[in-house]
Amino acid sequence: MTANRKKLKSDFSQSLLKWFDHHGRTSLPWQSALPWQQTRDPYHIWISEIMLQQTQVETVISYYQKFMARFPNIDSLANAEAEAVMTYWSGLGYYARARNLHRAAQQIRDQHDGQFPLSLDQVMALPGIGRSTASAILAFSQNARHPILDGNVKRVLTRYFAIAGYPGTKAVENQLWILAEQLTPNKRVADYTQAIMDFGATLCTRSGPDCSKCPINHKCLAFLQGNPTSYPTPKPKTPRLHRQSRMLLISNSNSEYLLIKRPPSGIWGGLWVFPELSNAEQDFQCWCKKELGIAVKSGKNMAIVHHGFTHFELEIQPIHCTVDRVSSGFMGGFMGGFMGGFIGGIMDTDRYLWYNPLANAPIAIPAAIKNIFNQLVK
Ligand code: ADE
Repeated sequence: MTANRKKLKSDFSQSLLKWFDHHGRTSLPWQSALPWQQTRDPYHIWISEIMLQQTQVETVISYYQKFMARFPNIDSLANAEAEAVMTYWSGLGYYARARNLHRAAQQIRDQHDGQFPLSLDQVMALPGIGRSTASAILAFSQNARHPILDGNVKRVLTRYFAIAGYPGTKAVENQLWILAEQLTPNKRVADYTQAIMDFGATLCTRSGPDCSKCPINHKCLAFLQGNPTSYPTPKPKTPRLHRQSRMLLISNSNSEYLLIKRPPSGIWGGLWVFPELSNAEQDFQCWCKKELGIAVKSGKNMAIVHHGFTHFELEIQPIHCTVDRVSSGFMGGFMGGFMGGFIGGIMDTDRYLWYNPLANAPIAIPAAIKNIFNQLVK
């Protein structure tokens, strides 16, 4: 590196550190370290970093606190039932993250004596942890010099160096990793890592960067060109797929709703959802008889709910219907508390559940299904 380049880079990191000392986040729950400790607990940092992927700090805080109260260390997470882990994740979305956390905790218990590994390669070998997250865990917990390259850092660097091209392509990403490596200082690595994340999240934001308050604007090529928001180059557009679904909200006389557990992998893997009617099926009453062995009264369409997944948009038409006491003859006497038993005769109770959202303990339900429940109990 030339002397000039070296100076440019040290100016960058020193300016961000100075900015961090005034504006950075320093009292997030996972940042707490006792004054005599030089390190932070990598378990705490790991959980927070996984929750913070695709999720705002403000949303994460209460989930993090409840998760930590229930799973205070690696062993408690590794030894927990998958169902319990999913319950504490439910509402955060991207559920593969929770399944990977659970598997990774078991891997740490079985292969690392229950101690979180501290080498980059070993951390990256854990399920659900890529290079940037592994680096962030080690930088935050050990102050170890590992560059990170998350979405915020990509935005800051593409602007500062006016790097065109979608950062998801290998060529641009490689270029950004080289810069990230060069810019990471030798000292105060944890602070610098938090600084660049916070700087991207609060000042150099995606659509409204506050360049007038930026401490490095005089050297930022995108600012000097007058077009900071044209960086980073957006992802080339592919048409977003749309899927439609009809979900049956079948209630019994105890105000319980029938839920079905999804298979372990795929969309909402392992979570509880309403029965979903196949596209080909026109008559949901026939479907309920055939698939669930229950007769339902005619249903009422509720407001459509939209939910965005990474690769498609789901439009859910909820149909509310009640179990029919009259036409189902012998079922009448078994309504309410006995429904579970009755249904259990036909259905596997590990996969089917009668659930009252107001009265029963929380279970692992995706946010879209919670929204539908909220419509029902409004
Ligand atoms: N996004 C990912 N990790 C983060 C962190 N430690 N602080 C703020 N935002 C983040």
